[in-house]
Amino acid sequence: MTNTIITNIRERNYTIGIVGLGYVGLPLLWTFHEQGFRVVGIDIDAAKIEAFRIGTSYIKHFPAEQMQKLAQSDRCRATNDFSIVSDVDAIIMCVPTPLNLHREPDMSYIVNTTHAIAPHLKAGQLIVLESTTYPGTTDEIIRPICEEKSGLKSGVDLFFAFSPEREDPGNPNFGTATIPKVIGGDGEAALEITDVLYSSAIVKTVRVSNPKTAEAVKLLENIFRSVNIALVNELKLVFHAMGIDVHEVIEAAKTKPFGFMAFYPGPGLGGHCIPIDPFYLTWKAREYGLHTRFIELAGEVNTAMPQFVVRRTIEALNDKKKCMNGSKILCVGLAYKPDVDDMRESPTFVVMDLLEAEKAHVDYYDPFIPVIPPTREHGKWTGKKSVAWSPDVIASYDAVVIVTNHKIVNYRELMEWNDTIIDTRNALNNLPAREHQVWKA
Ligand SMILES: NC(=O)c1ccc[n+]([C@@H]2O[C@H](COP(=O)([O-])OP(=O)(O)OC[C@H]3O[C@@H](n4cnc5c(N)ncnc54)[C@H](O)[C@@H]3O)[C@@H](O)[C@H]2O)c1
Repeated sequence: MTNTIITNIRERNYTIGIVGLGYVGLPLLWTFHEQGFRVVGIDIDAAKIEAFRIGTSYIKHFPAEQMQKLAQSDRCRATNDFSIVSDVDAIIMCVPTPLNLHREPDMSYIVNTTHAIAPHLKAGQLIVLESTTYPGTTDEIIRPICEEKSGLKSGVDLFFAFSPEREDPGNPNFGTATIPKVIGGDGEAALEITDVLYSSAIVKTVRVSNPKTAEAVKLLENIFRSVNIALVNELKLVFHAMGIDVHEVIEAAKTKPFGFMAFYPGPGLGGHCIPIDPFYLTWKAREYGLHTRFIELAGEVNTAMPQFVVRRTIEALNDKKKCMNGSKILCVGLAYKPDVDDMRESPTFVVMDLLEAEKAHVDYYDPFIPVIPPTREHGKWTGKKSVAWSPDVIASYDAVVIVTNHKIVNYRELMEWNDTIIDTRNALNNLPAREHQVWKA
């Protein structure tokens, strides 16, 4: 059976179903489609299925022309009907893996998706999970549900693998097809099929022993970032107290050609990955009676950063003989990182909440997010609109906090139009500031 499957992949006589058409699933579907595969997008969000039908993009960095090409292609379709699973050869799951209110893994998306596909499975299919998750998810959740509901057996007539998504939305240098793909299969046949499939669309594959090792790889990558960002955030506070600019220190340190990697401080962590994924391991480690102290400490340091931003804003206002109570504060950048429209877990929300708790009137400016859509945790800001970028509007604020440094923002204009700016991203580093105009935070 394995040889036939591999031949079908090589001859592009193969259909790939992508479940979850978000930031990860949509570019992945595009990548396979570009390599000549038949693709089927499956999502519970009716708006996304409609976008496929009419050919409009719903992700800023995913070009509308590509969406139109997909809409017109006879090798692409999208649906919310899971019975289509019986028509595909591979199912790749790219559904969300958030934390619940107790900051524990919310596995409901993976569990629901698995239950939805399981009744439609047939012999010979490959099932790959790409969502970031704790080691053991493929073996302990996906495989048992699929095997039980379908009566098929892993390694015999069903093949399971985990392959972590390493997408970096908005990164101009790397896209889905050019980022090496780690793969861990449940057995040799699953590994071989997964490798042939991904190799046909992605620059390089990296085989590891099994799905749980692949699941651990992704967590290592994100924990590494979280811990190192926490380290520079902590050093920022210490150096600030000593009158040393942490950014100047990092720029000089990174001239060392080995043994150092630059990480940059900021207003706190954001996004769907770095603030969340490490705690998947924390939760799983408890099952083994182990504590993940680095992860917890990094979380503590990183989540305290918005408070430092607010303290610096108070200091800036004080310097201007103003108080926070009743002040008008503008936050620039709502997205969690530059040049994207993704505001999940953005620290800007926390900064806005804290400023408002200090009785400031808070607005935001983000060229990529004209109005705040409904969010799970920051519902009170839903419907709020970005202010206009004009001299009168920007000058009307008592202080402006740069929380996210989008490249498209004209920082020269900002400095001409407002004289109290709190810069959490070193965005104004190369611009001449007036006296008492910029507070680094
Ligand atoms: N966004 C990133 O940069 C990134 C990078 C690496 C890894 N990841 C991981 O990839 C996974 C997906 O992230 P994302 O950013 O693409 O999320 P997303 O929210 O952009 O997209 C998820 C999609 O899944 C759909 N969905 C939810 N439940 C479903 C179900 N039961 N059946 C079918 N569709 C369902 C949603 O409607 C949505 O369209 C997560 O585990 C995330 O941690 C994301």
